[in-house]
Order: sequence, then structure tokens, then C-alpha cells
Amino acid sequence: MDIKITKTTAPKAKPAKGDKLGFGHIFTDHMFMMNYTEGKGWHDARIVPYGNISLDPSAMVFHYGQEMFEGLKAYRGENDKIYLFRPDMNAKRANASNERLCIPEIPEEMFVEAVKAVVDIDRDWVPSDEGTSLYIRPFVIATDEFLGVAPSKTYLFIVILSPSGAYYESGLAPVGIWIEDEYVRAVKGGMGFAKTGGNYAASLIAQVKAHDSGYSQVLWLDGVERKYIEEVGAMNIMFKINGKVVTPALNGSILPGITRNSILHVCRSWGYEVEERRISVEELVAAAKDGSLEEVWGTGTAAVVSPVGKLRYMDDVMTIGDGGIGELTQKLYDELTGIQWGKREDPYGWRIEVK
Ligand code: PLP
Ligand code: COI
Repeated sequence: MDIKITKTTAPKAKPAKGDKLGFGHIFTDHMFMMNYTEGKGWHDARIVPYGNISLDPSAMVFHYGQEMFEGLKAYRGENDKIYLFRPDMNAKRANASNERLCIPEIPEEMFVEAVKAVVDIDRDWVPSDEGTSLYIRPFVIATDEFLGVAPSKTYLFIVILSPSGAYYESGLAPVGIWIEDEYVRAVKGGMGFAKTGGNYAASLIAQVKAHDSGYSQVLWLDGVERKYIEEVGAMNIMFKINGKVVTPALNGSILPGITRNSILHVCRSWGYEVEERRISVEELVAAAKDGSLEEVWGTGTAAVVSPVGKLRYMDDVMTIGDGGIGELTQKLYDELTGIQWGKREDPYGWRIEVK
């Protein structure tokens, strides 16, 4: 791919070592952009100074939400090596979302090349403090100037970068999770498996409710029976029950998380029995009550491996273990972050250096 590069003439001040980065507030000097036009395909790949884009108010994305996004990270390892984690998986998932949303496919090599190119230009923005990384947000928006409901014929693919710390303000501290019993996020046949804005728009009302009650995230139940565990707002969920690792199966209404896939792989290679299946909320409450629910954690790019200390479902508030970080949760966090930051062997070939 031929990428035209225009460097900024006004570089911004980068966060200093030790600055609190938060998540998703700070943006780097450059961004990648590429247009799609029906009949022409993807064209005009370019890296330009980060800044506003101009769209007609009738641009279709504003009205019917035809858009897809992805999330991955770049990590600073020893000797200032910069790594990505399984970017090919993000490229594949982007196209699964694109297909569901009638957005044209982005060739996987093009997606990965775009990410690598813009990270390379802004590599000095990858932070170096413990636990920090450069969050990468590729996305596609529909840009036709038209108010009819139909797939757009033109699109913009953009990749922006954000130096970030922990997604949860608490860092690697157990979070409290609200099991939502009123609203639902997605149903089979809908677009729950796709990474698209509408799924997150649908989730806000319950998230506000959970926050108001002192919980940091929502755990969704299935949209039909409101009985089976699905996933959390920004992560997949896993349980250790009687020594086994149990997680909801990919059923079409939850996001096939790349961290989920990686963690299940690690658990299996460590000899754990792993079950991907339906888990009813009653089973979970019963396991919490009889003590067989040993650990609960979430997995996600932003959330990494996030211990869950407390679960609430209707009138039941369940403390997991002693409310602290479970032993396996900690081991998985150490293994995954060890691979991502280049501190541990990567027997799976997941770490990709940006050179
Ligand atoms: N589920 C939802 C709804 C998410 O937003 C995310 C985050 O991307 C995940 C799961 C975890 O996916 P991944 O591990 O690929 O980041
Ligand atoms: C991610 O983990 O990449 C996410 O997209 C989570 C989120 C901020 C929606």
C-alpha cells in the first residue's frame, strides 16, 4: 500500500513520565486516513497531522450509525522496542463487523499495515510507565450525503492513537459488577458480535444505572430470556467454578474478544479444563452461595485481565472469594502482560514488533 505521509509542523507536548494518563483523553500528532468509493475501492491512504475532519451534516454515519470500530494497543518493551498484540485478529474481526454492517471489506494486510505505519510515526508517544500503553482505535464511518436508509457508497477509514493508563480508575483492583435485569444489549441475529457504536449506545442507560448504584460495569444477560450470562460493557467475562474455567460460548450476541481467545488458550495450555457454554445467572448465584465460584475476571484490550470482587443480581450481592484478586486471575494478568510488554517468552507467536 502506498501511504502518503504529511508530518505535523506543530508537534504537541507529550505526557511526561509519571503523568496520569487515564483512558482515551490524549491523542498523538498523527492519524491514518483512507477513503472508499464504490467502483474504486479503498484509495488515498495517507498519514496526516491529527485534527478535525469535516463532514456534511447529512453524512450517513450521523443518522443511522453505519460504522465499525476496533481497539488494540502498542506496548513499549525493553530497549524501546514497540510491540502490537495479535493485530491480525483485529483485522479479521473488523471485517466480520464490516460484513454485518454492509461496510466494504478492508484487506487484512492493509489494516495491519495502516496500524503499523501510524504507530511507527508516533512511536515516541508510546508511554513507558508500568501498565501504560498506546491505545489504537481504527474505525470506519459511512460518509454519503444522503438521508435514505441504505448502505453508503463512500466511507472513511481512520486510525487514531491515544496514550493510556488503566481503563478502570482503580487499576488492577477488583471491580464491582451489576448484572442488569431490565435492559438488554443485543440478541442473536442482531449485531452483538460486531464492534459497532450502536451496541455501546444501547448500553449507556444501564451503565448509568449501575454507576449510580456504585458499580463500575454492567454484566448483560441474554436478550431473549434474560437468564444467561453474556458479557460486560467493555470486556468478556470468565469464572473459575470448582477448579474449571467457564465462560459464555460465542453465540452471535457477544463480542469475540481477542483477549478472551488468548486467555482461554493460555488456560488450556496450563492444563485447566475450559468450558465455553451457556451459564445461567441462577447457576452463578448458587455457585457464589455454596462457595464453588472461586474467581471472576473480565478480559479485554482496554481492561486487560480485570478482577471482579463483587457481583450484584437483583437482591443478591455476592462477594467473590475474599473480594480481592484471585490467584489464577493474577497469574493470567502476569502472563498476558508479560507477553504483551515483551517481558516473557511468547510461545504462541502473538507479539509483533513494529520496526
Ligand atoms: N466485549 C465488549 C463489549 C468489548 O467492548 C470488548 C473490548 O473490546 C471486549 C468484549 C473484549 O474484546 P477484546 O479482548 O478483543 O478487546
Ligand atoms: C477495547 O477494549 O478495545 C474496547 O474497545 C473497550 C472500549 C473502550 C469500548
